[in-house]
Amino acid sequence: MNHESSTSLENLLAEDRRFPPAPEFVAQANAGPEMSSWAAADRPAFWAEQARQLLTWSTPFTETLDWSGAPVARWFADGRLNACYNAVDRHVEAGRGDRTALIFEGEPGDGRTLTYAELQIEVSRAANALLEIGVRTGDRVAIYLPMITEAVVAMLACARIGAVHSVVFGGFSAEALRSRIEDAQAVAVITADGGHRRGSAAALKPAVDEALAGGGASVRHVLVVRRTGQEVAWTEGRDVWWHEALEQASERHEPVQVEAEHPLFILYTSGTTGKPKGILHTTGGYLTQTAFTHLNVFDLKPETDVYWCTADVGWVTGHSYVVYGPMLNGATQVIYEGTPDTPDKGRWWEIVAKHGVTILYTAPTAIRTCMKWGEDVPGRYDLSSLRLLGSVGEPINPEAWTWYRRVIGGDRTPVVDTWWQTETGAIMISPLPGVTTAKPGSAQTPLPGIAADVVDEEAHPVENGSGGYLVITEPWPSMLRGIWGDPQRFADTYWSRFPGIYFAGDGAKKDEDGDIWLLGRVDDVMNISGHRLSTAEIESSLVAHPMVAEAAVVGASDTTTGQAVVAFVILRAEYLDQVDQEGEGADVAATLRAHVTKQIGPIAKPRTILVVTELPKTRSGKIMRRLLRDVAEHRKVGDVTTLADSSVMDLIATGLDKPT
Ligand code: WT7
Repeated sequence: MNHESSTSLENLLAEDRRFPPAPEFVAQANAGPEMSSWAAADRPAFWAEQARQLLTWSTPFTETLDWSGAPVARWFADGRLNACYNAVDRHVEAGRGDRTALIFEGEPGDGRTLTYAELQIEVSRAANALLEIGVRTGDRVAIYLPMITEAVVAMLACARIGAVHSVVFGGFSAEALRSRIEDAQAVAVITADGGHRRGSAAALKPAVDEALAGGGASVRHVLVVRRTGQEVAWTEGRDVWWHEALEQASERHEPVQVEAEHPLFILYTSGTTGKPKGILHTTGGYLTQTAFTHLNVFDLKPETDVYWCTADVGWVTGHSYVVYGPMLNGATQVIYEGTPDTPDKGRWWEIVAKHGVTILYTAPTAIRTCMKWGEDVPGRYDLSSLRLLGSVGEPINPEAWTWYRRVIGGDRTPVVDTWWQTETGAIMISPLPGVTTAKPGSAQTPLPGIAADVVDEEAHPVENGSGGYLVITEPWPSMLRGIWGDPQRFADTYWSRFPGIYFAGDGAKKDEDGDIWLLGRVDDVMNISGHRLSTAEIESSLVAHPMVAEAAVVGASDTTTGQAVVAFVILRAEYLDQVDQEGEGADVAATLRAHVTKQIGPIAKPRTILVVTELPKTRSGKIMRRLLRDVAEHRKVGDVTTLADSSVMDLIATGLDKPT
């Protein structure tokens, strides 16, 4: 366990508040206590039953799980289905076409609602438009859009024709987009002129043009949604307006029924090396687990609930809990384009009150930001429609948990702290509302059908009351099927630390009751505002700048964002003078921050840049980030005995007086 984890462990041990489910909630809850025992008795049979109950198959499956090709699982492999049909058409066929599917809130105050019937027409047109520009089943399509209805439609349209979507978060740079397009060999990009962000129109199309100018030769067409109306450069023959393509397309399209193991999407996430991993998810198992968890963890009542997940579709939460889970269950949901403080800090709560949101799913960083803004802000709105709150992305500290329940949930709602990852595809560990007595700060129990444990270095389960590494010991339906184009990296990253079991990369502890408390990453992955970033990726960006000779990046605790990026850089000799002159140091930091923003995106921008003359390394040359984290968090520096040169830390401490 690293230093950071043991500190938070002590804080968490002191947490003894308990929140048993209210009898009124229990009486109406989707989940019951019996579910876990029957799932444990025959895990595959439990999931097969969910797959049959929750999805519509054009060819029913007869095989449940094939683990003979481990670590690549095959679930329901002889069945066929279509994800978009399941998310849209079947609701219309069952007479529920008039139900609102999407309530869109634009940042400037515009809005749009789409029923399931309207959505069926729009996704059919979009599917035909994709076919028209030559996209075929199995092709990859990059999606680079703001949080608007077209993002949902674009993903579903790909699924409808069996094309594989690769959504790239709109906050990522042209360079990040280019590398993802190239890795997946995408044949088309779906983007927009721009999106509304913090009160102004932020352009997106120029990043696509830049990405394709520098590479991306596989791309034949770019579909462009008109959102902001701003000027865009146009490449004749390549660029096509989305609205024109859809207008010309037929509103009828027969969904392509694919095998259960047909790829549904690739989503890139940061790992411990500089190169992002294309996490691959397939169809049948992924849809089964997203539908099941969305129904039971959020206690969804599709006829009456108004659900809102604040995540962007650029992240896995947006895939599983904006697009697939909710729509498979026929939910009515809100999607919001902008930031929580535009035009003012009450915007989220105004949306909750305006649409009568009943279920809210967000991240601890957002909750802590609202805490900072003060409870009088949400206090100005009627939030009494809320009946369940969810949290995801990073450990939620007990203070944020209890604030969330008290101020937003009116001291009434269950709060579910849901642990999962891009790789797991769907929620894995979470309290079940109506069943679990909640403990603030703990994700608590593996869901029915999930086998998770905390183990020591030798893969032995730890005793209750002890900490170790979080692992998943049995295959689950929505597990990743690999890293796009890199089966070896898949095996090495997740399956080699503890042979045969899945290593999540998180530290965890089992309390006296056996409940699981997540303690953060144990590898070189940071978690900034619930978004995963790799230390190595930012380091390689920094050393790509001519000023920088060497760089080391750590995630330091931050009261709002969970962790913040802190970079230690050694400058090349030619630039060192610059730092020595008063005031120039700040320019170094500003230049490097702008450089990382350009290369990766604003979320990767270091909060602090410290210019140093040495970095602490072991004799084998590995940077000891643990020591740098001590410096960044203003702690006494820990054990330095494994350093090649133990005086280095003194040098770093002296260097910190510099005005950077
Ligand atoms: C990492 C996965 C899952 C969607 C958002 C992030 C951390 C996630 C929790 C939680 C403690 C959490 C873990 C995990 N994490 N949820 N409830 N409690 N930690 O997806 O980018 O794939 O990141 O986020 O460290 O490994 P991701």
